[in-house]
Amino acid sequence: MPDSDPLDDVVLALELAARGDTDGAAEAARLAAERGSLLGRAVHTFLVGVSADGDDVYAFPEAFQAFIRGGGNVELYRATSAFLATGFPGVHSLLDIGVGDGLALVRALAQATMPEQIRLLEPSAEMVARAAEGVRTVTGRDPVVDGRRLQDLVADDSWEAVDLAEATFALHTLPPDTRSEALAALAPRVGRLQLVEFDVHLPEPGSLEHTRELVARYEIGLAEYDDTRDLVAQGFLVPVLLGQLAPGAVRATWEQPAAAWAEQLTGAGFTDIEIVPVADYWWSPAFGLRARGRA
Ligand SMILES: C[S@@+](CC[C@H](N)C(=O)[O-])C[C@H]1O[C@@H](n2cnc3c(N)ncnc32)[C@H](O)[C@@H]1O
Repeated sequence: MPDSDPLDDVVLALELAARGDTDGAAEAARLAAERGSLLGRAVHTFLVGVSADGDDVYAFPEAFQAFIRGGGNVELYRATSAFLATGFPGVHSLLDIGVGDGLALVRALAQATMPEQIRLLEPSAEMVARAAEGVRTVTGRDPVVDGRRLQDLVADDSWEAVDLAEATFALHTLPPDTRSEALAALAPRVGRLQLVEFDVHLPEPGSLEHTRELVARYEIGLAEYDDTRDLVAQGFLVPVLLGQLAPGAVRATWEQPAAAWAEQLTGAGFTDIEIVPVADYWWSPAFGLRARGRA
């Protein structure tokens, strides 16, 4: 009889973790690891508590920064910056929402006509300091640094409307209802919006097929890293994965298909929505979206 797939043990581990059986999950992950699964090894290490701390994955950004600078993210970010840059001509004021450490934005600025006023919105103090430094280096000007969340910015009427707002892989960090409210408050304050997100199609959450898909995709993603694999897995990928499944875990992503993004933005008052492919990627294909606001 052929051996069963070690990824089946990772699936079992995640199902047990989703039911709160951490010990059982750790044991299943250990068996998968013994049989060669990178994800099994990463989940086992995380569950036995070597580095699990339940914190916000962006609060201590070293792992996220290693993640976006390796594997398939190299091409993904190159294509993302190129997409952003094509939206800059004619733009005087730019708001980047959830700019992170500025990797996508700074490279876009370096290849385009630069907006004169740049506002960086980013709750992680460490990451936004790095983004601000990058913007200063390429533009020679200081950006406005705003450490608030999008929902806090739009609740405040005192900031000036901008020609262009943009977000790369950032709006999926807001829960759907919060995101709809924030986008509705944003639409009258921006001339145009550009986004890069993942076009995520997955089986019904909670189903075995859903867990199988997550495992298959994350195993491929982890294999793209070498020297930084442990850091990326423990500090970012495994917490994000378990955050989608385990009860009480801190959820970090609420993704959806490109068509659902378009629908959500239309409902929030954006118009003239255009969607273009940006890059293939192990998790899901990335797309760019442009829309008109009402400022
Ligand atoms: C996946 S990262 C993307 C960072 C960056 N835009 C990039 O492309 O590398 C998501 C970012 O959104 C930020 N974020 C999380 N919640 C947010 C919110 N409510 N408002 C604004 N930014 C948020 C996180 O701190 C993080 O830097």
